[in-house]
Order: sequence, then C-alpha cells, then structure tokens
Amino acid sequence: MLVNGQTSDSIPANDRGLAYGDGLFETIRIAAGRLLFAEAHLERLSHGAAVLGIPCDHAAIRGWMETALAQAPAEGVLKLVLTRGPGGRGYRPPEAAQPTCVISCHPLPELPATLLERGGQAFLCRQRLAHQGVLAGIKHLNRLEQVLASQEFATHHEAFEGLMLDQENRVVEGTRSNLFMVLDGRWQTPALTRCGIRGILRQHLLEHFGGRLEEADIPLARLHEAEELFVANSVFGVVPLTRLELDGKVLECAIGPFTQAAMARFREVLGA
Ligand SMILES: Cc1ncc(COP(=O)(O)O)c(C=O)c1O
Repeated sequence: MLVNGQTSDSIPANDRGLAYGDGLFETIRIAAGRLLFAEAHLERLSHGAAVLGIPCDHAAIRGWMETALAQAPAEGVLKLVLTRGPGGRGYRPPEAAQPTCVISCHPLPELPATLLERGGQAFLCRQRLAHQGVLAGIKHLNRLEQVLASQEFATHHEAFEGLMLDQENRVVEGTRSNLFMVLDGRWQTPALTRCGIRGILRQHLLEHFGGRLEEADIPLARLHEAEELFVANSVFGVVPLTRLELDGKVLECAIGPFTQAAMARFREVLGA
C-alpha cells in the first residue's frame, strides 16, 4: 500500500476522510499489467476534487499509480482514495489542505463461471438513493446508501446485483454498477442528474455507441417493459441480467443485441 507515494499501511487518525468521508475514490481494473481507462479515472477524480475543493496533484498521483502498478500482479484491481487529509474537530476544512492519497492493489473478484453466458439475477433494493445534485456523478467517499443496500443481499443470495431507485421511483443504478436497458427498442441508461455515480465504463459506452445510447429518466414502471437489461462497472465489465425480481413478479430478459454489443466492446477494451 502506498500513502502519498510511500510504502505504508496507516494514515493519521485525524484524517478527514475518516471523520467526514471528505474525499473521493477510484477503483481501476488492471488487465495484462496496464490500467484500463486510467485517464478517464484521473479525470473523474480531478472533477470530483474540484467539486469538493480538494487539491489534486495529477502528476504526483499518476506517478504513484505507476509505482503501485509496477508492484502489482498483471490482473487485479487498483484502488485509489484521495482525502482532504488531516484536520481538527469540526467540519470547516483547513485553509491549506494536505491531501492524503492511498493506493492499494487487490485480486480481481471472480465471477461465477456461467454468469456471462446465462446472465445474472437482480432484485430491487428497498434502500433508496437521496437526491443531491451537487454530489451526483462524482465518486465521493460517502457510500452509506450502498452499504445499507448491500446488506439486502443477505435475503437475495442468488442475486448478482441490487437495483436502486431514487426518491421519486426512478431507477438509477445498481449497488456497485450502472444500469442499461432496451425499452421500445431504444438503448437507454438512467440520467444521473440527481444521484448516482457517473461510471467510467458507462461514459465509455455512451461515447462508443454515440447517439444509439441515450440517457433518460426511467420510471420504475418502465422497468417492467425492459427487453434487455445489463449492469456495468469498470472492474467486472458488462454483466447481462436475465432475471429480475420486481414487486413479487419475475421479469425475464434476453441477452439481446445491445447487451452483446456492450459485452463485445468490453472484451475489445480488455484486449481479450
Ligand atoms: C454505485 C456505483 N455506481 C456505478 C459504478 C460504476 O462505476 P465505474 O464504471 O467507474 O466502475 C460503481 C462502481 O463501483 C458504483 O459503486
């Protein structure tokens, strides 16, 4: 583990990341010894840092990522946490923040063998996402909604992902992924203006598919009509959802052309 570029596994107990979740993180796929979408992750980090007013030394962070990568296995996950750094008691940030950057490398989580061919199951989480337009999109450290939603897997052992709604019954994303679907033949992903994380893979798919993939507000009622469903994040890639438990009913979906095109694109990016 690297803390501001030095090998260490500890940070001061007065770090504001711990006290207030005052920081950001990125989780980056390591494939064949390189960081996938490294620039896009750095850009999202910089944007989040600008929103929170945390200084972000791009060049130093890029160098520390390279150092960590050189010591990591060829396949895995690099996690980067950037906090505002040490602080006293009270919310008001110090005038001259000294950010803390922690970089750690982890094994790649294994996916069940048949997941990509058969698709996974999903359920609707009871836990909702609050509206907060200022923080929507950025990957800040306050993830209690996801922590609470993830506890619902305890009663959904078979599920690969839980889908989350906002305060007004719009479907937003998965607990750890973005959501994509086909509705009336149109390729759509929820617009993330009120809540949700603008995923790096989501952004890549929006750019790759151009006007064919649209961002839209998607009411829960429309989910019942989905012809295809998949979730994606930059670590596990694209995972089809073929069975969704929804209000006591089960929705079955095909692994259709949109899902297949997205899966093929991720394989290309991986170089597989
Ligand atoms: C809540 C949530 N939404 C979306 C994503 C997808 O983000 P990315 O594609 O950057 O991995 C993640 C990834 O961890 C997430 O936790």
